[in-house]
Amino acid sequence: MAAGVLGIGKFVPERILTNFDLEKMMDTSDEWIRTRTGIEERRIADDQTDTSDMAYFASERAIKNAGLTPKDIDLILVATVTPDQPFPSVACMIQDRLGARGSAAMDISAACAGFMYGMVTAKQFIDSNAYKHVLVVGVEKLSKITNWDDRSTAVLFGDGAAAAVMGPVSEGNGILSFELGADGSGGKNLYQDKEIIKMNGREVFKFAVRQMGESAASVVEKAGLTKEDIDYLIPHQANIRIMEASRERLDIPEEKMIKTIQKYGNTSSSSIPLALADSVENGVIKDGDLIVMVGFGGGLTWGAVTLRWGGK
Ligand code: UT7
Repeated sequence: MAAGVLGIGKFVPERILTNFDLEKMMDTSDEWIRTRTGIEERRIADDQTDTSDMAYFASERAIKNAGLTPKDIDLILVATVTPDQPFPSVACMIQDRLGARGSAAMDISAACAGFMYGMVTAKQFIDSNAYKHVLVVGVEKLSKITNWDDRSTAVLFGDGAAAAVMGPVSEGNGILSFELGADGSGGKNLYQDKEIIKMNGREVFKFAVRQMGESAASVVEKAGLTKEDIDYLIPHQANIRIMEASRERLDIPEEKMIKTIQKYGNTSSSSIPLALADSVENGVIKDGDLIVMVGFGGGLTWGAVTLRWGGK
């Protein structure tokens, strides 16, 4: 057996904030945002909806789509840098609300690479037969730590959640290879200071272009695959120019790269699973498809996974 995805679900807030809305809030333009980042709009959660609410809604859907009940979940891992509060963890909050009492539960802080860290951690427990079903959630309410007076960061981020139930799948499916890494010396380029996000955009950009390409290529090689085997690339949806660089490094055609940045912006931990959930729901990703996922983020962190979809 291998460790794969049994069911996936997503939740995005209803409120849409467009680039044109931002034009009215700060000195920016739809043209600048679209050409520099690829973003057209993003979702913003209301005051009544916190990170754990979005995590809960996405998780409920993922568990249902896996054909399971919350009682079947052995471990809950929530990747987030915007928890409701430092503790209890979002994982514990949704464990109670889902009715998954007794399962282990913890949050993972690896910023935009968080879901990759979550999936790879889940894989270890599943491969070792310690746990059968692991709920992995990527969720952020970045709007609550966004500095709306800083146009260089405020236009980038959005809110959202996506969850995957991971468990045993037949050999040849699920996670085929992975890479995780971090370089704490780059922490100064992207961090939260008091209440808000601070970023050295140019430095993060340079790091991201290099690391996303390297990690994506490395997991493809580790799995013994070639570029022809890749059906879809899901890069962290941070900036279309960074995403394009990783696609070019893998030397795969444009239609093989999944792109949701235009409608959700950068949702950090949630960005990769949100794109995955969207593509599965839309019937784009089908059983047997080979997917390369790659993310980078504050820490600095990075992570990549090759996953063959299906095999339940
Ligand atoms: O999940 C990881 C999170 N972080 C990232 O993914 C960030 C990675 N970095 C980036 O995506 C890019 O560096 C940015 C999108 C943040 C910025 O793009 P850039 O091409 O590196 O622009 P820049 O910082 O070099 O700024 C170019 C110009 C500047 O004006 P001057 O100095 O040339 O007159 C900025 O002041 O664009 C200006 N600018 C804006 N103009 C209109 C910066 N933000 C904006 C804005 N609207 N929102």
